[in-house]
Amino acid sequence: MAKPIIEINLERLKNNLSSIKKIIVKNSILAVVKADAYGHGVIPIAKTLEQSGINFFAVFTIYEAIELRRNGITSDIIIFERLSKESFKLAIKYNIIVNVSWYSDLELFKENNSKNFNCPKYHFKIDTGMTRLGIPYKSSEKFINNFISSTNLVPDGIYTHLSTADEGDLSFAIKQKNRFDKILNSLKNKINFKWIHLSNSGGVTNIDNSNYNLVRVGMLLYGALPSDSLKIIPKIEPVMNFKGEIVLIRRVKKNTPISYGGLYKTSKSSNIGVIQVGFADGMPREWFQRGYVSWNGKKYKICGRICMDQFMVNFLDDNPNEGENVLIWGKEGNNYISIEEISKDIGLNPYNLFTAISDKRAVRIIK
Ligand SMILES: Cc1ncc(COP(=O)(O)O)c(C=O)c1O
Repeated sequence: MAKPIIEINLERLKNNLSSIKKIIVKNSILAVVKADAYGHGVIPIAKTLEQSGINFFAVFTIYEAIELRRNGITSDIIIFERLSKESFKLAIKYNIIVNVSWYSDLELFKENNSKNFNCPKYHFKIDTGMTRLGIPYKSSEKFINNFISSTNLVPDGIYTHLSTADEGDLSFAIKQKNRFDKILNSLKNKINFKWIHLSNSGGVTNIDNSNYNLVRVGMLLYGALPSDSLKIIPKIEPVMNFKGEIVLIRRVKKNTPISYGGLYKTSKSSNIGVIQVGFADGMPREWFQRGYVSWNGKKYKICGRICMDQFMVNFLDDNPNEGENVLIWGKEGNNYISIEEISKDIGLNPYNLFTAISDKRAVRIIK
């Protein structure tokens, strides 16, 4: 049976890591592998990174962290989710680092401390302008002092998250960094944080002096750019090739309507290929107006709407064989389609496209 193919190239992952290291110089990397490593499959990705020297990972939920532990990842792992009683307990059990991201998180620590239970290692998450999780920057100095004096627990780190690091206008990102610096400055004689971090992929490439001693990098590791407004572009290559099988080639006449709504009509008689991948598999549904796939080094127009399980391609007078694959995105031999190009065309970003990939019917090939 024809299945969508998600091909993961671990050599490229290692090369991307080396290129990122060149731009962050001596700082450490916290590899962001949440959401199944942005759809790339978290276990082989994390294992490869750990073998390549990464010893700090971030995921969102405690269950993603436990999955890593159960699969033999021994490095530090931080979870970004809001702390709950459940995640607190499991974090102790599995040796996971948590965020302190709201005032009431102190109660969880106090309660456990007073009963002489262990507490997990923690980082303070400061909200400097993202307005998501995080202690609001204006009250963070007071909160941190109070937290430490009432728990006697030394923090493992402190961080904030930028909301506009990969936008053309960096003024707000710089404002966030200045707010963060002010807090660090006010605490510097009292607390010695092991880890201080602010930058994501956009920060690393766009904001001067933003690396502190740790950077949280996701997208660049997977070989895609978070946006087209980056000052420094590291030498990276796509880790994922997304491909689909041609299950049928049929010759149709000029003016034949194709797919739902009959929006596309052939301008001459053509070889139409049916590809067995649809939006249920993560094929972006909007990528049909100007969308294309690559086969044999050439680009061919996607014709008509993408269906749930299939889409059609106009090969004109070329003759691919049934059973051959087309490249939807990635880089393979003389075929190359960047996920950034697709995202831009349809008004999304690579984060959406990668994480929309579904494993349910696809086959994963790890290279
Ligand atoms: C808190 C936090 N830090 C870092 C990252 C990594 O971002 P990027 O993939 O742009 O490097 C994310 C991703 O969404 C995040 O939520």
